[in-house]
Amino acid sequence: MKILKTKKEVKQQLFTYRKDARTIGLVPTMGALHDGHLNLVKNAKRMTDVVVVSIFVNPTQFNNPEDLAKYPRTVETDLAKLEAEGVDYVFLPEVAEMYPKPTGLTFDFGDLERILEGAFRPGHFNGVGVVVAKLLHIIHPDKAFFGQKDLQQVAIIRRMVDDLAFDVEMVVVPTSREKDGLAMSSRNGRLTAEDRKHALVLFESLTLARKELLAGKPWFEVQDKISHKFNLVPGVELEYFELVRTNSLEVVSTIDISEQTTGKEYSLCTAAYVGDVRLIDNLPI
Ligand code: PAJ
Repeated sequence: MKILKTKKEVKQQLFTYRKDARTIGLVPTMGALHDGHLNLVKNAKRMTDVVVVSIFVNPTQFNNPEDLAKYPRTVETDLAKLEAEGVDYVFLPEVAEMYPKPTGLTFDFGDLERILEGAFRPGHFNGVGVVVAKLLHIIHPDKAFFGQKDLQQVAIIRRMVDDLAFDVEMVVVPTSREKDGLAMSSRNGRLTAEDRKHALVLFESLTLARKELLAGKPWFEVQDKISHKFNLVPGVELEYFELVRTNSLEVVSTIDISEQTTGKEYSLCTAAYVGDVRLIDNLPI
């Protein structure tokens, strides 16, 4: 496994694969790797010839400086995990390499960035768009792998890739969960033992809401019940719990079961603070 720190090194190393028509897979990450990340890597190994994982804690996507400062950084263990997965290259740039000067360009993703995460994290998706665009241009992968855990991020990047004709295929991988259902996240390690138990309310609420919706309960009743459920858990503060169309992320207040051809037309999305850790999760219906 080779570590590449600069755009120039990437160009030198990956040039030959492109010449030989070998496919390149990119898994963009911010490190603090867990089994959810490694499952993206496994998919990339299966579907492409050469696998590049990027580790870069992107400052421009943190709307809260404290969140950036507290973001876990575990590069040595991350590299050991990637080596064990048989990754070919890790792109590990410094901030100055990715941002030699501040980016003047801003993205506007329209309605997509004003709902859910966008409403609570102003500027977040602009930062994601800019860094993913840079990574795709630097690595130029055939396929790029993203987790369904960040459903809105997937929608944003898909819009960017489609609208700006990026020459890449996006592969979306289902959410990896702990045994009790908690979605794996680099932030889970910051939960206290008590908060770790309380954090389960996200997944439990998603599964309960899905069950009730499929049983025909009106959405406003379900939403009421769920916010009550969140209120009962100490130290947990619900930010949103919404029903959306999975592809457009349009927020809706009813599901049409006859539309349910694949069983994934709709998703439930939620975000909550558990202690001082902000967690998100979603579940297709
Ligand atoms: P990060 O949070 O490190 O996540 C990297 C990738 O892993 C993302 O595509 C994310 O959706 C996926 N992922 C995280 N937890 C997952 C889980 N439990 N199951 C499945 N996939 C999971 O997302 C980012 O970094 C950044 O925004 C990035 C795209 C790298 C741009 O900076």
